[in-house]
Amino acid sequence: MVEQVAQCGPNEIDRALDAAVASLEETRRMEPYQRAEALSYVRDGLRKRAEEFAVALSQENGKTLAESRLEVARTAATFDVAVGEATRVYGEAYDLGINAMGAGRRCIVRHYPVGVVSAIAPFNFPMNLAAHKIAPAMAVGCPVVLKPASMTPVTALMMAELIEKSGWPKGAFSVLPCNRAAGQMLVEDERIKLLSFTGSPEVGWKMKASAGTKKVVLELGGNAGLIIDNSVTDWDWLISRAVLGAFYQCGQVCISVQRIFVHQDVMGEFRARFKKAAEALKSGDPLDENTTLGPIIDSANRERLQTWVKEALEQGAELVSGNTVARGGQGNNMTATILEEVDPSCRVNTEEAFGPVVTLTPVASMEEAFQMVNDSKFGLQCGVFTQDFNTVMRALDVLEVGGVIHNDVPSFRVDNMPYGGVKDSGLGREGVKYAMKDMLEERVLVYQVK
Ligand code: SIN
Repeated sequence: MVEQVAQCGPNEIDRALDAAVASLEETRRMEPYQRAEALSYVRDGLRKRAEEFAVALSQENGKTLAESRLEVARTAATFDVAVGEATRVYGEAYDLGINAMGAGRRCIVRHYPVGVVSAIAPFNFPMNLAAHKIAPAMAVGCPVVLKPASMTPVTALMMAELIEKSGWPKGAFSVLPCNRAAGQMLVEDERIKLLSFTGSPEVGWKMKASAGTKKVVLELGGNAGLIIDNSVTDWDWLISRAVLGAFYQCGQVCISVQRIFVHQDVMGEFRARFKKAAEALKSGDPLDENTTLGPIIDSANRERLQTWVKEALEQGAELVSGNTVARGGQGNNMTATILEEVDPSCRVNTEEAFGPVVTLTPVASMEEAFQMVNDSKFGLQCGVFTQDFNTVMRALDVLEVGGVIHNDVPSFRVDNMPYGGVKDSGLGREGVKYAMKDMLEERVLVYQVK
């Protein structure tokens, strides 16, 4: 254990919601430059205290220091994007005379903050995925209540110190560490006008069902595909990205590479190079600068994943590499695991692994790979390595995903791009500007002209 944090119960949550509702009058009246100033303060504070945040992040989550430093930098970038977007909430004005009924009428469309936002964040990016809810809400003038994941509340509370001093109104931001039962208030309460959840599909879709009339944005899981055709030229780039995409944060990323489809012409070479690079990862203590593969978040998840691997092996899969538990770090380190010949019905294929396990499947054509990617209940992002731009455009047209990444892994994300999935992977998009759209409501003024 690294830290103990007080838990909120229904009374504290109730008070936080009252305070959030009361603060809306103030947040919605803030000028764009004032919202931008508050966001800049948070961004600058994150940059000034970057190393302190990174160490706390590795301690609470178990990601390596390099991964934590990257997350802190990305969190600052997310606030930075919001600084700009806060001053770009534009309306519209146009004629309504599309027929005789609208003749002589015009309208102005303005955007207003929807109200209190409930943000429920996951453990895998405790800072940046919380920032993807907090920063757009601040940019449009919505109060926010944040429930951090129960295993990773520390850096959220540290961010709250910055927000408190940023000029953002009192009561307009609360961090509410609480258990799932108390957290249900943050799903159901009618004072909340938008619920933004990142986490598992199972929990997310249940939340939507009990969220009442509020808007709901869900960023859920995936079993992301990586497609490699036979035109590979830069093997070093491909392998370095494939290993990173599959195993960074120990595979605990919604867009982690999970299913790799390789053209049969290059499968032999890919397998050999990928295995060698995966085996070079160094499992261990996340606070040791030499560690490149940190632990899984807890023993329950490590055991779950090992059960899935065992099931695949029992059903005829071949183990290419890994599947050992290294009891360094926090005791839940698992080596980078590569499986082949996996029965399509096995859970390492069909469910979200959320750990360091990938499957390799040979394909005879790109069309076959596209079909296999789509043969999934999920659809978040897909990476396509090819030198043929027609293949890229075909991938964009046919893949049932929220994003196609050319010559890189599905795990690629920069914080201003639209991010989200289709099918069981979610509802709506994040990426600051896109999240802001959901946090705003149009209001129209119709007027007459003589
Ligand atoms: C996620 O795990 O959903 C987020 C991935 C990222 O922001 O890189």
